[in-house]
Amino acid sequence: MKDTFYITTPIYYVNDAPHIGHGYSTVACDVIARYHRLRGEKVFFLTGTDEHGQNVARAAEKRGLTPRGWADQIVPKWREVWERLDISNDDFIRTTEDRHERQVQAFVQRLYDSGDIYLGTYQGVYCVSCEEFKSEDEVVDGNCAIHGRPVERVSEDNYFFRLSKYRDALLRLYEERPDFVRPETRLNEVVSFVRGGLQDFSVSRTSFDWGVPIPWDAGHVTYVWVDALLNYITAVGFGADERRFDSIWPADVHMMSKDILRFHAVYWPAMLMAAGVAVPRQVFVHGYLLVGGEKMSKTKLTGIHPFQLIEHFGVDAYRYHFMRDVSFGRDGSFSWESMAARYTSELANGLGNLASRVLAMVDSYFEGVVPEPSHREVGGRLGGPAEQLAKRFDAHILALELSDAVAALDEFVRQANRYLVEAAPWNVAKDASRRQELADVLYEAVEGLRFVALFASPVMPGAAARLWEQLGITEALSAQRLPDAARWGSVNPGTRTRRGESLFPRLEE
Ligand code: MSP
Repeated sequence: MKDTFYITTPIYYVNDAPHIGHGYSTVACDVIARYHRLRGEKVFFLTGTDEHGQNVARAAEKRGLTPRGWADQIVPKWREVWERLDISNDDFIRTTEDRHERQVQAFVQRLYDSGDIYLGTYQGVYCVSCEEFKSEDEVVDGNCAIHGRPVERVSEDNYFFRLSKYRDALLRLYEERPDFVRPETRLNEVVSFVRGGLQDFSVSRTSFDWGVPIPWDAGHVTYVWVDALLNYITAVGFGADERRFDSIWPADVHMMSKDILRFHAVYWPAMLMAAGVAVPRQVFVHGYLLVGGEKMSKTKLTGIHPFQLIEHFGVDAYRYHFMRDVSFGRDGSFSWESMAARYTSELANGLGNLASRVLAMVDSYFEGVVPEPSHREVGGRLGGPAEQLAKRFDAHILALELSDAVAALDEFVRQANRYLVEAAPWNVAKDASRRQELADVLYEAVEGLRFVALFASPVMPGAAARLWEQLGITEALSAQRLPDAARWGSVNPGTRTRRGESLFPRLEE
């Protein structure tokens, strides 16, 4: 029985190093995975690399390496980026692994045996960058409309998958489960594409050999997209461990941008239907990150490596920025200026300053010990907003409105800072007869910071952990579970805080 929340990133091509566009998908999945863990759910978060196909074979050839040798060199770079970005993936699948290849063969064999795969001849054009056969209207002056690179004429014997047979079943799927593809505009695109009619597609290639061999015909390798999509099930025990597979599959969310929507929303469910395997629950399409108004790309040299930004802003600010800045589902433009401006206003002057002010006052007025308030229930001025934060954050993340969730966190930080300005504890402290009032204000402020750390933790795990440490709460942040952890008034008076380094130091010019 399924008992695990399962989320996936696309598996990335190893033809080159990652850029912040890949980082965007992966960080988004990480935020969602971490939040579901915070809710006490079992989570399986998968990412990995797509290593077969002409694209990778040619990248290797250019460097005088075998495809496998090249992939072995580049995969550590991907792993390293995910580690540095604090990505908490539970597994990392490579399509060249045995556990994957063996089940790819079992899967295509199943479709062949049931008659959904047949031998035919493919004649047409292919874009190696897309790893996709193109129709006439997708080609402009001999170039792929997406990559602007020449398409190649192909004529070869291929095995075909009977996609056309699944047209009605797919339309029924979109009709019955309108959230199968989100946002809705993307669903509409898929529906009209499928209504327009579906052609069987080629699932094998004979002109090169860098792929998973077709089990019943050694002259063919599996088409890279069929191979790649199957990672989502081979990684969780398909064909190898039924119990495990049933506890994780179907996936709750396949995350990606629209370049690969058709594969996930049309080919993939049809392949699964043909094999008698449940289809995923949702395909979510986020926007493109643009640089200078253009989709970032390695070919155009607009690709920005995540390390370039991390070195300057730190990992937490990196994660925060992209989740906050781009309305999730829409395209967003990256610029250094706006990243720096947001860092300064929301992290250095906002969250970071809130934490250092509060902890400094607990230090100087109460010797670093959280004071005893006159009441601990939601009566004060920050308890209501904190409850709102918990509610909004939860609803937004579950609906994959990631930027709204982060905006709710930022709003709470502003409310807390405003509260401090209005309550002016620095004035209250001057009057010895107002000692209890001072204790009440600082207790609320510390409790507010606990909420900040809690809800920042899926987005900025490192900074949240440092803040938690500074608050001196003995129970680990990683042991916190919602909704219990979001009960107002949980910080114990007497807790010894530890002022630490500034969470978000001011940027150097
Ligand atoms: N290997 C295939 C995916 C197979 S999944 C079964 C592939 N790989 S890729 O390396 O090209 O990655 C494409 C994905 O990277 C996009 O769908 C998106 O998730 C992410 N992005 C790449 N560039 C991007 C932007 N400029 N902006 C946002 N995300 C982008 O396709």
